Amino acid sequence: MQGEALMVTFTSSLDLTPSQVEQVLRLAALAPSLHNAQPWRFRVLPHLIELHADPTRRLAAADPQDRELRLACGAALFNLRLALEHAGVRPVVTLLPRLSAATTVAEVRSGGRVQPDAETTALHEAIPRRHSHRDPFRDVPVSAEHRQFLRTAAHRERAWLHIVEPAERGVLEGLIHRAHRAQMADPRFRAELAAWTGRPDDAAEGVPARAAGPAPEAQDQWVHRDFSAGQASRSPGTRFEAHPLLVVLCTQHDDRSSHVEAGQAVERVWLTATSRGLVASMLSEVVEVPETREELRALLGQDRHPQALLRIGHGTPSVPAPRRDIGDLLLDTDDAS
Ligand SMILES: Cc1cc2nc3c(=O)[nH]c(=O)nc-3n(C[C@H](O)[C@H](O)[C@H](O)COP(=O)(O)O)c2cc1C
Repeated sequence: MQGEALMVTFTSSLDLTPSQVEQVLRLAALAPSLHNAQPWRFRVLPHLIELHADPTRRLAAADPQDRELRLACGAALFNLRLALEHAGVRPVVTLLPRLSAATTVAEVRSGGRVQPDAETTALHEAIPRRHSHRDPFRDVPVSAEHRQFLRTAAHRERAWLHIVEPAERGVLEGLIHRAHRAQMADPRFRAELAAWTGRPDDAAEGVPARAAGPAPEAQDQWVHRDFSAGQASRSPGTRFEAHPLLVVLCTQHDDRSSHVEAGQAVERVWLTATSRGLVASMLSEVVEVPETREELRALLGQDRHPQALLRIGHGTPSVPAPRRDIGDLLLDTDDAS
């Protein structure tokens, strides 16, 4: 709990010192998660670090199947891999996403020593600089070179990045509007959103009002969800960029492992964007509502499963969202999984 003095003792693992272990877990926990619920925990053993989903942080209205919960855990896993590599440990990952029976998402062991390459170093440096950027972007297009880097990043994690073509924007816009209306018509969704957003500055979880971006307006094409719980200063006529880069991250399958892989891919794409001076936010309503997700899948064709929609562009640095105390994320070595 925040505010309580926690006496957490970190232990050595994978040949890392206790303070190195603390640092790699701290970086893992900087991953993005729906409503900043931070649905992950870690168990540290001498030869192994386990990543667990935290079922008490499920978002039952927005994410009833836990797809986005697994995606968030995948993003934390990607940060953990990067942090280990940066500390000189080659991570060997086994995915175990059997959420219904056990909470273990992945086990990470050491595959020996490794010298981090330039890309690992750049992505690692980007971890604390990556934030959700909900403000309008500058009207500067994302270059073809940058788009290619983003596509490659997704491929490296066995995912596929569909860059939304101008001809597809109208249909996508319609789907997002429909999904948003469907969610906002559901009192359970509204209550859940209100509980996790517009949080005070000293909250350790949820989306703080200061990171909410401007209050959405009726004419906004892409940004609808109000993360400020009605508190954002309404600046009439706030203009969002006319042509953001919209990308849909897709996977070949749609099982539990695919969701964890999608999370790793989202984080590699987002950190690649950050390392190259771009900013991003997620627009998830269209992939959360089953009907619009299915229509988006049909629009993309080729039997790919859409897992996340991101808006990427050029903008000024945004505000970091808070994180829970790292001590609250540790499972005892004898806790049942
Ligand atoms: C699966 C998933 C879905 C998300 N959906 C949205 C979204 O629809 N709109 C949004 O603004 N942010 C969305 N986010 C971003 C989170 O709100 C954000 O990661 C969290 O508040 C922590 O802030 P940070 O990204 O700045 O670290 C999503 C994140 C994840 C992992």
